[in-house]
Amino acid sequence: MIGRFSDLARQGLFLFDPETAHGLSIAALKSGVVPACRVPRDPRLAQTIAGIRFENPLGMAAGYDKNAEVPDALLKLGFGFAEIGTVTPKPQAGNDKPRIFRLTADRAVINRLGFNNEGHDAALARLSARRNAPGVVGVNIGANKDSADRVADYVLGIRKFYAVATYFTVNISSPNTPGLRDLQARESLRGLLEAVLAARAEEAVRHGRSVPVFLKIAPDLAEEGLDDVAAEALDHPLDGLIVSNTTLSRDGLSDRAQAGEAGGLSGAPLFKRSTAVLAKMRKRVGPALPIVGVGGVGSAEDVLEKIRAGADLVQLYSCMVYEGPGLPARILRGLPRLLDAEKVSSIRDLRDTAVDRWAGEKL
Ligand code: FNR
Repeated sequence: MIGRFSDLARQGLFLFDPETAHGLSIAALKSGVVPACRVPRDPRLAQTIAGIRFENPLGMAAGYDKNAEVPDALLKLGFGFAEIGTVTPKPQAGNDKPRIFRLTADRAVINRLGFNNEGHDAALARLSARRNAPGVVGVNIGANKDSADRVADYVLGIRKFYAVATYFTVNISSPNTPGLRDLQARESLRGLLEAVLAARAEEAVRHGRSVPVFLKIAPDLAEEGLDDVAAEALDHPLDGLIVSNTTLSRDGLSDRAQAGEAGGLSGAPLFKRSTAVLAKMRKRVGPALPIVGVGGVGSAEDVLEKIRAGADLVQLYSCMVYEGPGLPARILRGLPRLLDAEKVSSIRDLRDTAVDRWAGEKL
């Protein structure tokens, strides 16, 4: 059922410009016309990471459901977790349109949205309405473009969403907010993590539970930049890393016309770089710190390769633009077949099995 619907949905949405298509897909998920996917649960896919129980390792990446309109509909597509946001304290219009571009021949997307979102209050109202619903829903927090104190914006995000977030993602890696990526520099990162994790510690006492905080980084960091992020990640009670956001690189694209568009590139061409950076971070932080691998994932094989390179969990976004809403179900049906072939009792047994090969890639 979802297979046929998925094909039709994908073909239909391609008749529209990318941002209109995105809005229509959110509306469709909201309305309930998208059929739920019954993917049989496989205990080999379930894991507890950062204290959270994940039924399967595949999540919806941030940026699709920026305003927390459809987290439960995404979970019904089969995703083991859904990350909403990036949300900023104040509503923000983002950059001028057009600001999303499909590079169909490359199965890639370029976006320069610039954190368009309805702000904290709107997302909080929606998440509060589903507060006792099951399912892992992460809240990805950011800073307003015109903010006088960006660190304060992240702290506000922690405090605001504490009761409704299963986990937080501190996003300092969008290329579309000028200067945001500078927060990855060592001194800035230290100040940010101190402030954010102090706020988390206070809220944990107030709420009686510690909500995990992940840090999402760019794939464009050089080796020294990765050293700095790893050192700071280990120096603070951070719960994990998300590797990676979109890239400024245009390497390996055949669609030269669209490649000139400014913004962050995602989808298939990002797979190699983001997986190499993931493995390099795994080598630096050691086996204990959770890492979510994201970038160019479009198949069960891709999910497994991210796990082999050092990921505990995996997210995707751009490939669903090309494959339709049936993609997560297809991947989740594929994974057990791959685990049969590998003869492992848990997907976790495959983690790091190709970490050296990937970490050896030149950046
Ligand atoms: C994104 N991404 C993103 N990430 C984030 O942390 N906050 C955000 O608001 C957004 N917004 C966003 C919009 C669009 C249109 C795209 C395509 C992507 C990045 C996303 O979460 C992911 O890290 C990258 O897209 C790489 O994964 P895929 O798309 O290659 O699977």
